[in-house]
Amino acid sequence: MARIVGGLGTSHVPIIGRTIEAGKQSEVGFAPFFDAYGPVHQWLDKVKPDVAIVFYNDHGLNFALDNMPTFAMGVAGEYHNADEGWGEPEPRVFKGSDALSWHIVQSLIEDDFDISVCGEMLFDHAGTTALDLLYPGHNIPVATIPVVINAVQPPLPKPSRCYAFGQAFGRAVASFPGDLKVLIVGSGGLSHELGVFGKINESFDRLTMEKIVDDPSYLAALSNDEVVDLAGAQGLELMTWLAMRGAVSGPVNIVNSIYHAPISHTGGAMMLLEPETGA
Ligand code: DHB
Ligand code: FE
Repeated sequence: MARIVGGLGTSHVPIIGRTIEAGKQSEVGFAPFFDAYGPVHQWLDKVKPDVAIVFYNDHGLNFALDNMPTFAMGVAGEYHNADEGWGEPEPRVFKGSDALSWHIVQSLIEDDFDISVCGEMLFDHAGTTALDLLYPGHNIPVATIPVVINAVQPPLPKPSRCYAFGQAFGRAVASFPGDLKVLIVGSGGLSHELGVFGKINESFDRLTMEKIVDDPSYLAALSNDEVVDLAGAQGLELMTWLAMRGAVSGPVNIVNSIYHAPISHTGGAMMLLEPETGA
């Protein structure tokens, strides 16, 4: 039986990835954000997940106005990276988990989530940054499954739908016959609006971090407009944390967490959750 061993919510600002590449984690103003990953690395060494399902919002790499699925996931044996700026990225290959992916697709569709199924998919900075934070040194031991939620181009899925989407992933993983430990990642946020300074809302971000642990339904009940008012247009990346929390259902303990603002335009945050029943 596959089982979910933990859930990570994390910011995915490109400057985080550039700082890791430059090896300057201890020199930047948001060094405490990197420090908070120490206990996460120890936890990963102990728990050793086999697969990471990464919920993120595509930033125009895979999907643009000509083709904008609400929910899409990869079913490939491997994925390549790409990004929308900052120069040509180093080409990299991320191992996939096609058997688990296809099982999830089947389960989601039976569960009334008619997801777009992608034989090819590119990881943008939202995926690569999260994986590089988890596993520094381009040494990613887990298989990956990219799952994209449209948090960019209206009409957008509601927060409640993203939470329910995550819950459907929880059921799908639990019904996979293979013996796999699965880590769920939600890559995004927290409050920010690109190109507009001053959209960080620290008190809402801190409330988000509390509610994601103890009362995710509170966040799921918000409308998209309320999220934009409270957290800025790109604060909608909160959808990825809600999907993560939906998948890691039931009571959870915090392994470690941090809030650090600003990181670039964002209220930067990380939180690693473990099911109360253990990893
Ligand atoms: C920034 C934040 C993002 O979520 C993103 O996708 C790109 C850039 C930023 O604050 O710089
Ligand atoms: Fe983003």
